[in-house]
Amino acid sequence: MEYTVTIQPSGHRFTSHENESILEAGLRAGHNLKYQCDNGSCGGCKVRLVSGEVSRMQFSEYNLSGADKDAGYFLPCVCEAKSDLLVEAAEFSSVADVPYQEITARVRKIDIIKEGVIILRLRTPRTNTLRFLAGQSVKIQLPDGSAKILQVASCPCNGMVLEFHVRCTEGDSFSEFLFYNLNLNDAVTVKGPTGEFILDEESQRSLIFIAYDTGFAGVKSLIEHAIALDVQQDIHLYRISCDPETDYMHNVCRAWSDAIDNLHYHAFQYCIPIDCDGDEKAKICDQYLAGLDKRDDALIAASDVYLSGMEGMVANLEKRLLEKGLPEERLRIQRVD
Ligand code: FES
Repeated sequence: MEYTVTIQPSGHRFTSHENESILEAGLRAGHNLKYQCDNGSCGGCKVRLVSGEVSRMQFSEYNLSGADKDAGYFLPCVCEAKSDLLVEAAEFSSVADVPYQEITARVRKIDIIKEGVIILRLRTPRTNTLRFLAGQSVKIQLPDGSAKILQVASCPCNGMVLEFHVRCTEGDSFSEFLFYNLNLNDAVTVKGPTGEFILDEESQRSLIFIAYDTGFAGVKSLIEHAIALDVQQDIHLYRISCDPETDYMHNVCRAWSDAIDNLHYHAFQYCIPIDCDGDEKAKICDQYLAGLDKRDDALIAASDVYLSGMEGMVANLEKRLLEKGLPEERLRIQRVD
């Protein structure tokens, strides 16, 4: 059986199945419900049942007060829906709502793409998952003390498995430790989240994502979030490479494009090496935008644009997008190391 859950006051709706917690269903649907432990021990997810029927699926250590029970409060992390529900629930609506966290996570997987890019996956403790908004970043501290701020590449719908994309750079202690010394199950500290590179969920405009190299991480998180929310407007994804040898996850982009009618993946046409000089970057950006404009001039003017990548590249694209008439408030930028 599946039931519809409607959240007040946002009006957000999602489907919840029997044998899954209402919290899990809401997060999977892309809603930023407030919670902490996800196991019934903190009370942080407490919501009020306005109408409908819920049933407890598992024991919870946290005891709701008599007044809370009388008012209809329950813990959605340990309850399942037994009918359509109307609930009053708090959601993270801005970055200011998301608390600072410090979590010890374990290395779950390290994938190395031709010694150029590392895909790092961490697992947080089940009772202390990372709460963040899609597109945000965290500071990752490795066992040797080296640290770097990285965009989370995964979706907030699963705060227990966190994905990061790191470009290997000679002389950079963080990426060198990651490449040579980090092992599965090592402890890594995650601090944050930070950053305002988040989706404008109220906007009905088309979405354009432009990602340069590992700037794809934050864009991937945003697109997964947009897919979870089932946004109806067109989504256009453009990726620009700095090294064709270490391009990665194009299969993921193609799979999105194949499976989702309103998602369009535009394979990049230009490779812009990280170390090319500013003039050359500007020239290639011009070529890139010229190619983009021929096809999509009107589209850019009518869209929200999310741009993510390394400083020099992003600065060039920003300048030119604004020159093309894109209103500044519709351009969101994330600069990555
Ligand atoms: S998240 Fe802690 S009790 Fe539900």
